[in-house]
Amino acid sequence: MTMKSTESDSMLSHHTEDIFKPHAGVTAAGTSSSHSIARMDDGINALAPLQLEQRRLIHREESVRQQSDAFREIRTRLLAMGGLQNFVTLVVSVSPRSGGSFVARNMAAAFAFDEAKTSLLIDCNLRYPSQHKALGVDPAKGGLIDFLEHPVLGIAHILYHTGVPRLRLIPAGTARENGGEYFSSFRMRAVLDSLRCRYVDRYLFLDGPAIKGSPDARILSELADFVVVVAGYGRDTPAAISQAVANFDPGKLAGVVFNHVP
Ligand SMILES: Nc1ncnc2c1ncn2[C@@H]1O[C@H](COP(=O)(O)OP(=O)(O)OP(=O)(O)O)[C@@H](O)[C@H]1O
Ligand SMILES: [Mg+2]
Repeated sequence: MTMKSTESDSMLSHHTEDIFKPHAGVTAAGTSSSHSIARMDDGINALAPLQLEQRRLIHREESVRQQSDAFREIRTRLLAMGGLQNFVTLVVSVSPRSGGSFVARNMAAAFAFDEAKTSLLIDCNLRYPSQHKALGVDPAKGGLIDFLEHPVLGIAHILYHTGVPRLRLIPAGTARENGGEYFSSFRMRAVLDSLRCRYVDRYLFLDGPAIKGSPDARILSELADFVVVVAGYGRDTPAAISQAVANFDPGKLAGVVFNHVP
């Protein structure tokens, strides 16, 4: 896989091009806090590099250097946009199977690499949830939808360990056809606010369904500070990418990731 900045794609908006130009002097340093959960017990032993590769996850070894560098670069740029505050990032594919979930998972992992940060990946693809399978998590205690329907269950039950230190998952939960009504609810917004505000070093990543064919991606973008659009390299045409990008508030658009789906 290679990732390219939007600089090379003249079809995309000026704003997007700007965002992916390197920001001189920006580092990945973030906030630290006495409320940090960075050193919290992650519950299970950390996964070995081979296990991480099986989950299509970056790690620190040389073999996936190019990919991990690409994700670290996206992390740096998002942090430059976010300033000192933690934030919510929506990751969505232009069209189904272009790699949105792959990118969302690895962006969350890249943030968790930083020992001063934690990340929370939330599977918001209610029709085709995939993160629990990809990460080998058994969502026996339910997920996002179950909690939204029965808040009395408590949020702690749906925060699952992943085997990657400082990376937690909220699986989608019981499959649903129509996510829009949940995502536009007051309760969903309140849940995200409380998850983000509880720990200042926690970064949230929403894995949404593809932009093409569902209004959910746009509805979810209302809840996010930033939006990352994933284009399947050689799959999504420049026209399709421009059309997809036009769904979002330009002020939230962090950029387009070109993903080589194998
Ligand atoms: N760059 C990559 N390297 C390795 N595997 C990849 C890469 N991109 C995608 N994949 C794999 O391709 C498949 C489809 O990717 P993914 O599920 O991320 O796409 P998606 O856009 O989220 O699809 P959906 O429309 O189902 O939500 C997955 O098995 C994923 O692990
Ligand atoms: Mg997906």
